[in-house]
Amino acid sequence: MKAVVYSKKSASSGMRLEEVEKPSPATGQVLVKIHTVSLNAADYRSMQMGIGPKSGIFGADIAGRIETVGPEVKKFKVGDEVFGDLSGCGFGGLAEYVAAPENLLAAKAESVSYEDAAAVPMASLTALQALRDKGRIKSGHRVLIVGASGGVGLFALQLAKHFGAHVTAVCSSKRTELVSSLGADSILDYTKNELSSLPGNFDVILAINGNYSIFTYKKLLTPGGSCVIVGGALSQIFRFFLLGPFLSIGSRKIRFLAGKASTEDLEFVMRLVEEGRIRPVIDKRYSLQEAGEAFEYLKAGHAGGKVVINVIS
Ligand SMILES: NC(=O)c1ccc[n+]([C@@H]2O[C@H](COP(=O)([O-])OP(=O)(O)OC[C@H]3O[C@@H](n4cnc5c(N)ncnc54)[C@H](OP(=O)(O)O)[C@@H]3O)[C@@H](O)[C@H]2O)c1
Repeated sequence: MKAVVYSKKSASSGMRLEEVEKPSPATGQVLVKIHTVSLNAADYRSMQMGIGPKSGIFGADIAGRIETVGPEVKKFKVGDEVFGDLSGCGFGGLAEYVAAPENLLAAKAESVSYEDAAAVPMASLTALQALRDKGRIKSGHRVLIVGASGGVGLFALQLAKHFGAHVTAVCSSKRTELVSSLGADSILDYTKNELSSLPGNFDVILAINGNYSIFTYKKLLTPGGSCVIVGGALSQIFRFFLLGPFLSIGSRKIRFLAGKASTEDLEFVMRLVEEGRIRPVIDKRYSLQEAGEAFEYLKAGHAGGKVVINVIS
């Protein structure tokens, strides 16, 4: 089968389209014929840290159809359309086929496209778990989303609206129309205004992108509010580990999210997409041959939604 194999030693992006052996499903696994894979920071951060899969095949968020099933597979059968996040089991999505544990996959709704399904796993679950589990979002809450126009941010914005929150989205001038069309109640253009110019009345803050002071976030929280550090510049994350616990003394909390794979959450988000309550936003589409280019685009940090690779076009 064809796969994009990463090697630190190879030139330019380090990625090459190669012919490799087609995997076969082990006990509890299914063989998925991949239709679409979406890219995440987890792919290129793992590459940079040298902690990638042994196979050299990255790509975690996949959507496709089951071609064969391994022994003891109970939930799925041949022909089922599935999607999921394989970052916890060796990636492997930048390929024509992947063998994946059935317990990491969920059923794709028939009316939802493979591209939309592949866009969902890591980005939407990160947004959901940050809002629901760490932010304890409630209807009527005032929510600030910093980095609202990226892969995670656009899901966070729509999920926060779904939960009945009033949302202030932080993005640049070129994305204000997009975030407004997805329901933002108020927008701060970070290229024109300082984050610190906002009133300090937020119940939940998601720090998804950018590089802001943890003290600024704390000042923007209302008593009882929580700021959830999701991502952004490594220095922002670093400052959290250094100062977060001290700054959380008192009623305003600073928390860190480590997103977890969950088929229940995948099913929850898939239902919302199927019902048209939220919609995955695809910024750019590439082919498998163009994987290097797709990663360069994502790494530049200005994607307006998800970057997907269609293995089958
Ligand atoms: N904790 C976890 O479990 C977890 C899970 C998944 C991802 N993450 C992290 O979450 C972060 C975001 O992931 P992502 O997939 O959403 O990334 P992404 O799609 O690459 O985000 C790009 C977006 O960020 C915006 N942005 C850049 N600088 C900004 C700033 N200073 N203020 C506001 N927005 C800014 C860009 O807007 P402009 O182009 O307009 O500037 C662009 O729309 C990454 O750091 C990732 O590692 C964490």
